[in-house]
Amino acid sequence: MNLRLLFVFSSLLACNISNAQSNPFGVSNAGLDYLTGQALFEKNWVSAPSSTQASDGLGPLYNARSCVQCHMGAGKGRLPIALNFRIDSDYFGSQIQTRAVSGLPAEAESEIAYSNRIETLADNTEVILHEPLYKIITMEDGQGELIKKSPRLAPALFGLGLLDAIPLQELLNKADPDDHDNDGISGIVGTGRFGWKADVANLEEQTGLALSVDIGISSELFPNPFGDCTEQQDYCLLSPHGASREDQNLEIGHVAFASLLNFIRNIPLPVGSEDSAGNNSVGAGEALFENIGCISCHSNSYSTNDSQANNNPYSDLLLHDMGEALADSLDNELSYEWRTPPLWGLSAYIDSQRSNEQEQLYLHDGRARSLVEAILWHDGEARGSKQAFKALSMQDRADLINFLQSI
Ligand code: HEC
Ligand code: HEC
Repeated sequence: MNLRLLFVFSSLLACNISNAQSNPFGVSNAGLDYLTGQALFEKNWVSAPSSTQASDGLGPLYNARSCVQCHMGAGKGRLPIALNFRIDSDYFGSQIQTRAVSGLPAEAESEIAYSNRIETLADNTEVILHEPLYKIITMEDGQGELIKKSPRLAPALFGLGLLDAIPLQELLNKADPDDHDNDGISGIVGTGRFGWKADVANLEEQTGLALSVDIGISSELFPNPFGDCTEQQDYCLLSPHGASREDQNLEIGHVAFASLLNFIRNIPLPVGSEDSAGNNSVGAGEALFENIGCISCHSNSYSTNDSQANNNPYSDLLLHDMGEALADSLDNELSYEWRTPPLWGLSAYIDSQRSNEQEQLYLHDGRARSLVEAILWHDGEARGSKQAFKALSMQDRADLINFLQSI
């Protein structure tokens, strides 16, 4: 389904409180507050000072002016705008901002080049993977090229309230840091459960962080109006900001923040493809998904308070070593680790139609252009599972993909 349509559709659904799956938390997602939150999600922030004080405060450094510019229709983002680079720099801070308010230089420009990498399946089918090479050229004198970085594409935001509601104990139960069961898979619990590195504790923190680092807007948890400017970037700290005269010197006040958060918590899941129930190929694919070990990480069956809610995200929300080729170059203890992404909602990006190739961007940096490519990038703890996939017949592969596209 086209994501723009999906978004309109999801706003309609939000008002339909009889749809249990799409509305796991009762009445809170209905009505005005949800729509106010959605409007804030779509709002274009402008630089201060402006005549519209309620919308100013952008930057000084930023990557985009609104949430929706990166999370298209609350789905995943497009390249290049929605690809952020996390860094660890005394000078540039924790993320590269590729834009700045007028009069200030942006921190850097990024370039992506791709080279081909060929995977050969057991039946001799060749699949060409695109391996990205990132270059970040800073605009500051003497700072040069940034070598250490971690690229992250904006993920889809549906179903997050359900993930937030999973008790921590259930994640701990799935974790196996020392691989006691000897299956080669040692999931570890991150410091949080959101973000590609499971390093953000909850949706409140994630929303505050996004406002601060991606857009340059201060809120209660991240009150610095200069966002990701560091002390060394004095030119940045001299820029005007929009810390408002009315609301505790924050660029977004409590009430608006709460509405935005309420929206983020309640974005409904896309409805899975209608013809999947009773479809033989989808059923066979689901069995394969279990048999070749995908389910070990893309796992299911969490308890929720609401028996009607979908508790099948197909993710353990744990961190896994996914091998050298996917590792980032920050060179820290998490460089090889990625959080298993939930697979629910894959039905929103149907491979075969390829109606919009831009939406076919899988993995943490969007390098995979199809589900098959995404699977073939798996390595490290997922190596056994990936090898089993490579050994499947063409029909079995098609069944597995059909299953993924039905979720
Ligand atoms: C410049 C692009 C960009 C903008 C603007 C942006 N995001 Fe994001 N968002 C990302 C990226 C990239 C990630 C993944 C971050 C990571 O893994 O470290 C992300 C992650 C998230 C997540 C966590 C999702 C998950 O599954 O763990 C939430 C929630 C979120 N963003 C909400 C927002 C909100 C709310 C706004 C607006 C205030 C916003 N984002 C603005 C790029 C963006
Ligand atoms: C050891 C744990 C593990 C196993 C086993 C595993 N995966 Fe994954 N999967 C991950 C992680 C972690 C990622 C994210 C990696 C990244 O982005 O660099 C991922 C990403 C994906 C994605 C991309 C999702 C997106 O939204 O970008 C798909 C599709 C996927 N896996 C399907 C499968 C299938 C099918 C199997 C079985 C053949 C499988 N996985 C086995 C951990 C696993």
